[in-house]
Amino acid sequence: MALNLDAVGKKIGPISKDYTWKDAVLYALGVGAGFSELEYCYEKDLKVIPSFAITTLYEVMPEALRLTNINVPGMLHGEQELIFHNPIPPKGTMTSEGKILNYYDKGEKKGALVVAETETRHSNGQKLFTSNMTIFSRLDGGFGGENRPRKPVEFPDRAPDFSVDASPAENQPLIYRLSGDVFQLHVDPEFAKMAGFEKPIMHGLCTHGYACRALIQSLIPGEPEKARRMNCRFSRPLYPGMPLRVLIWKTGEGQAVWRIQNVETQEIVIDNGIFEYGDIPKDEVRFDDRVAVVTGAGAGLGRVYALELAKRGAKVVVNDLGGARDGSGEGSASPADTVVDEIKALGGEAVANYDNVATVEGGEGIVKSALDTFGTLDILINNAGILRDKSFLKMDPQNWHAVLDVHLNGAYNVTRPAFAVMKAKGYGRILMTTSAAGLYGNFGQTNYTAAKMALIGLMNTLKLEGQKYDIHVNTVAPVAASRLTEDVLPPDFFAKLKPEFVAPLALYLCSEECADTGNIYNAGMGCYNRAAIVTGPGAVVGDGRTVPSPEELVEAWEKVKTLKGAKTYFQLNDQIGDLIGAFSKPAADAGTAEPTSMSVSDIFKGMPNAFVSEAAQGVEVVFQYIITGSDGGDWYCDIKDGACTIQAGKHEKPVCTLEMEDKNFLAMMTGKLPAMQAYTSGKLKIGGDIMKSQLIEKLFKM
Ligand code: NAI
Repeated sequence: MALNLDAVGKKIGPISKDYTWKDAVLYALGVGAGFSELEYCYEKDLKVIPSFAITTLYEVMPEALRLTNINVPGMLHGEQELIFHNPIPPKGTMTSEGKILNYYDKGEKKGALVVAETETRHSNGQKLFTSNMTIFSRLDGGFGGENRPRKPVEFPDRAPDFSVDASPAENQPLIYRLSGDVFQLHVDPEFAKMAGFEKPIMHGLCTHGYACRALIQSLIPGEPEKARRMNCRFSRPLYPGMPLRVLIWKTGEGQAVWRIQNVETQEIVIDNGIFEYGDIPKDEVRFDDRVAVVTGAGAGLGRVYALELAKRGAKVVVNDLGGARDGSGEGSASPADTVVDEIKALGGEAVANYDNVATVEGGEGIVKSALDTFGTLDILINNAGILRDKSFLKMDPQNWHAVLDVHLNGAYNVTRPAFAVMKAKGYGRILMTTSAAGLYGNFGQTNYTAAKMALIGLMNTLKLEGQKYDIHVNTVAPVAASRLTEDVLPPDFFAKLKPEFVAPLALYLCSEECADTGNIYNAGMGCYNRAAIVTGPGAVVGDGRTVPSPEELVEAWEKVKTLKGAKTYFQLNDQIGDLIGAFSKPAADAGTAEPTSMSVSDIFKGMPNAFVSEAAQGVEVVFQYIITGSDGGDWYCDIKDGACTIQAGKHEKPVCTLEMEDKNFLAMMTGKLPAMQAYTSGKLKIGGDIMKSQLIEKLFKM
């Protein structure tokens, strides 16, 4: 099968990995740490070796292989770059997301290179590291692509500044593989022989871990958190038990090059190593080389956003038509010009634009200003606004439309051409401006509150359409002193509400670092919180087939309206999934409807008939099922040589463990609960080799 050339740009993940201090210590032992580096091996004041980052790749790699359709038998992990942003905490969840970055063609029979980039964040919100993994595929060259430009690493013509010897034990791979790389080549003597080796070989990434320890020990002793970047090429296999030597040359402030030698044969087993180290750069939110459009930036909040963005490196289009508070009047160039002058006086770059956001041409003109002046557009803050307050019966169509035209249609008019630019470049940050008046209601503002809530709807869908292109869309609900609020807010409160207090939130939501999309935040006077549309657990009234009466509904009213246990949904499908799931519950609870006519043990009895032996060729796996609840029990499926055995009880060495409540299991196996939804909602817990669980759908057709 040929490489899937369309996979470039295809998304990897999100893939999450929970870990505890024991995983970090197991990895440390796997890469040779011991009593002399107790900081990596003792849970008290534990430090995590930065190369522990590698353990996330064992789930990223299969995803990359699936997307690219690489010829697996000819595949090798060619190069690996890790860029460390923050130290890895001793426990938590690491979530990796990325894409297939590029393909390179070395030529017919010479192979191909596939580069996958992922970024990993911790459950504490911090960006931990970026990985650039190059897979060398021996059997996939000659597709007519470009070859990779060579960037040779120059080694100084002198003896290394540091030389660190290590002797991995004969059993080293047996410990290392417990961190996730369970490929047979590193454990199974027969398999290793078949692959042309005398015996199982070291994992290249295990040797990589030895290098990481040696580099820290030599260059930043006791301070692994100072590792910034580690890059290398895997060049030769190494047998466990062979002594190795890490050779290190300092090449500049915070920079070194390194390679690893097999001491017995003198061969270089890892080459082209680069290591960078130093203090963690403060995670400054910067916008260098970014182009931002801020609408209504001639005054109030927009002016502050524009100034703050420019101070942090952005080139800014300052849009403002310069009308009156209610949108009336001819407009004036002066507000936008003044802000541009202010930015230039600070040494920043900005251009004024006087278009009206309320027209389609105005929106296009604003985006054109960005393209004509700065060549691109990365950030859009839809901020322009007017007010025309009236109680509802006095709200004539003119006042209604004028406000909707600026706030809602204005956001549409500017966002549409901006989104096209962002989609083409694969990056964008869009901020909508709502209002607490819209979120919660405010007397006399039906036009304004309707428009402000409509912007949430616009965000909700745009975030989905932008997801694939790294376009994030969020919404701010500010409270700040401006001409819009001067007669709305009490005077002493007004004095304290500097628009500057809103800017940090707006800026962060527009930054590359911020992973949020589809969120709403209130901001004012230094207080920031998230607002959301939440949905209560509700109640199923009736059996889903007979329409319940209003009286039956009234009886269940407390349950229907409670928000206890409420949750947010990212998109419609998630809510529909729960709706479908809700109907499996009463049926199972009542013990009358179809699903319960089948028991959990019936499902396992039927599994051999549902087994698709053709799909199991070459598959060797044991699935352990732990089904809780009154109908539950333990069963396992042992799949080997195209055959499947189902047994009650626990297997000694399950490859993958699936744990579920009986009613959820029945709902899933009878097609009422999608497996993915069961997993993401926590109804299905998967342990062990999580990737193997994806085989189940192929192996059994229930
Ligand atoms: P502001 O009146 O000081 O600034 C709004 C700017 O938008 C003005 O400079 C105005 O000339 C410009 N503008 C109006 N219509 C325009 C159009 N059609 N095309 C281009 N520019 C136009 O108001 P403020 O308070 O800074 O408001 C900014 C945004 O924040 C608005 O969307 C507003 O609804 C929202 N907001 C403000 C709150 C506050 O407490 N200040 C509360 C909740 C929301």
